Amino acid sequence: MTENNQIVQFHVPVMTQTVIQYLLPCIQHKKYKDKSAMYIDATLGSGGHSQAILENISDGIVVGIDLDIDAIEYSKNRLKDHSNFHIFHTSYTNLDQIVSQFPDYALKGVLFDLGISSHQISKPNRGFSYSVQGILDMRFDQSNPIRNAKDIIQRSSEYELSNILFKYGEERFARNIARQIHEQRRNIRTTFDLAQIVRSVVHGKNINKSLSRVFQALRILVNNELDNVKIGLSKAIDLCATGARLVVITYHSLEDRIVKQIFRDYAQNNKLQILTKKPIRPLLIEINNNPSARSAHLRAAQKV
Ligand SMILES: C[S@@+](CC[C@H](N)C(=O)[O-])C[C@H]1O[C@@H](n2cnc3c(N)ncnc32)[C@H](O)[C@@H]1O
Repeated sequence: MTENNQIVQFHVPVMTQTVIQYLLPCIQHKKYKDKSAMYIDATLGSGGHSQAILENISDGIVVGIDLDIDAIEYSKNRLKDHSNFHIFHTSYTNLDQIVSQFPDYALKGVLFDLGISSHQISKPNRGFSYSVQGILDMRFDQSNPIRNAKDIIQRSSEYELSNILFKYGEERFARNIARQIHEQRRNIRTTFDLAQIVRSVVHGKNINKSLSRVFQALRILVNNELDNVKIGLSKAIDLCATGARLVVITYHSLEDRIVKQIFRDYAQNNKLQILTKKPIRPLLIEINNNPSARSAHLRAAQKV
């Protein structure tokens, strides 16, 4: 893809080798063989992880899901030569409906790579980034007429805004930022307008952290992300066959805490074996090559 005469990569998949090691445990040096196996990439994005799964299985099917139509179109084209790849433009919270469409297959692995893709961050009309000027949208699914980030800013009280920034961004200056946002809400239309308000409240070395947290908080609320993780991951565990693997990559502590807790609850009920005592982090070399991997935490478990 070319934007401003530069080659812009849609997204570089994170910790791909570790994902494959946990998702397809028996591969060693040969391709994984299981005719009736179904693997789900619940957050398809650029299809990078799906491609790796497809390259490491000789039988079975891979199903890719994403809410973002750009991701769907991109991956459809990228993986068009794989007849055992199926794609769905929907939320991974509908996992049960998707699995029921493949009654001849057993669910043997599910991957969640949460967060946003580089494509979403860099595209101005998505409004996800404080360093890219664009309208404050932040919906993963732009065909869904849910309230966007601008609507939330314009319709919330100062108290509600403060709670949003604190609960979903863990932002320590939530109150002061919320007061400024509320006072100036009629003038906030773009990412830069919002970033300017945050900069007027927070100074010094904390500024980038506060900007990230404010944008993260709004994004989480717009897309109902935390509830979706709870619903999607629980459904995935319930739908998996015995011995199936679950791999989840998170990019902030709110999500990681939810994954840890869900894995723990299922393990206590003897429905899951946790494979990663502590989350696995990317190697420094990967972070150097792909800075968006820097906050990744990978957890894996096996259905009992
Ligand atoms: C970090 S990216 C995934 C990148 C992907 N693993 C790759 O290799 O390119 C996260 C993706 O999850 C998608 N997403 C977020 N919430 C979703 C949901 N509830 N259902 C399906 N996809 C979702 C986003 O649109 C985004 O494309």
